[in-house]
Amino acid sequence: MNIAIVTGASSGLGWEYAKQLAPRAEVDEVWLLARREERLLELAGDLIGAEGRVFAVDLCDPTQLAEFFEKLEGEQPTISWLVNCAGYGKMGRFVDIDVEAHLGMVDLNIRALTEITQRALPYCTRGSKIVQVASSAGFSPMGNFAVYAASKAYVLHFANALSAELAADGITVTAVCPGPVATEFIEIANMEALKAGAPDFTIAQAPDVVRKSIADARKGRMTSVYGATMKAWGALSGVVPRRLTSWATARFRAH
Ligand SMILES: NC(=O)c1ccc[n+]([C@@H]2O[C@H](COP(=O)([O-])OP(=O)(O)OC[C@H]3O[C@@H](n4cnc5c(N)ncnc54)[C@H](OP(=O)(O)O)[C@@H]3O)[C@@H](O)[C@H]2O)c1
Repeated sequence: MNIAIVTGASSGLGWEYAKQLAPRAEVDEVWLLARREERLLELAGDLIGAEGRVFAVDLCDPTQLAEFFEKLEGEQPTISWLVNCAGYGKMGRFVDIDVEAHLGMVDLNIRALTEITQRALPYCTRGSKIVQVASSAGFSPMGNFAVYAASKAYVLHFANALSAELAADGITVTAVCPGPVATEFIEIANMEALKAGAPDFTIAQAPDVVRKSIADARKGRMTSVYGATMKAWGALSGVVPRRLTSWATARFRAH
């Protein structure tokens, strides 16, 4: 059995990955992971072309994660697509954000993503595709988004390095680096005020970002960046001094 695993499938980009991957011939089932079971059940019922299987899992809970891996081991599927999409951010001054929220970001965005990747790899084969959802926030340090941006820098570097390691095995790894996308992420990150003040063209739509990243993963690209603004930022961030990006973004205000 060939499957796609999508974490964070209950909303936003993950929901869209599941919908767009299901009709692909190489996938018999899409395994949907997130905490909100009712949302996953709704999505499973909507999928066209592949069965949706629901796993209501808190990826920050080691016991629940271990139970999921036991089920994976029991089924022994081939993982054609692994999409690590679950993640969140909190914008604001580092000192003002609850330490549990900081540690949750590290746990979900870094630890869970790393563990799932390692444990999924034995089920990947030549042609398998791993999609690691990072962010344009990972291009450079960001004041007032310090832990989130650092966590996404980890995802970006980890994905690009793994892509080189796995090239000989025919497994591709693509880091997806969106700028702002209209999803629940914006509200959870306390970024509504920034979004309200931003021109419409700077806020991407989830179906577009996902479509491009799936196409890029199919081409074996190491990194997928949607939109001219974020592409320009990606190129510039390599040359702009970190002191400047940290300072400029520290002017962003939450709410
Ligand atoms: N939207 C943006 O502006 C943007 C920009 C760049 C990168 N990204 C990245 O894109 C990814 C998807 O974000 P999104 O925009 O689609 O936001 P979203 O709509 O808030 O989706 C986040 C997903 O993560 C899941 N999740 C959160 N905590 C979890 C946990 N402890 N265990 C299991 N699942 C958990 C949520 O499901 P439950 O709540 O049901 O668990 C939800 O399905 C994230 O990694 C984010 O950092 C987003």
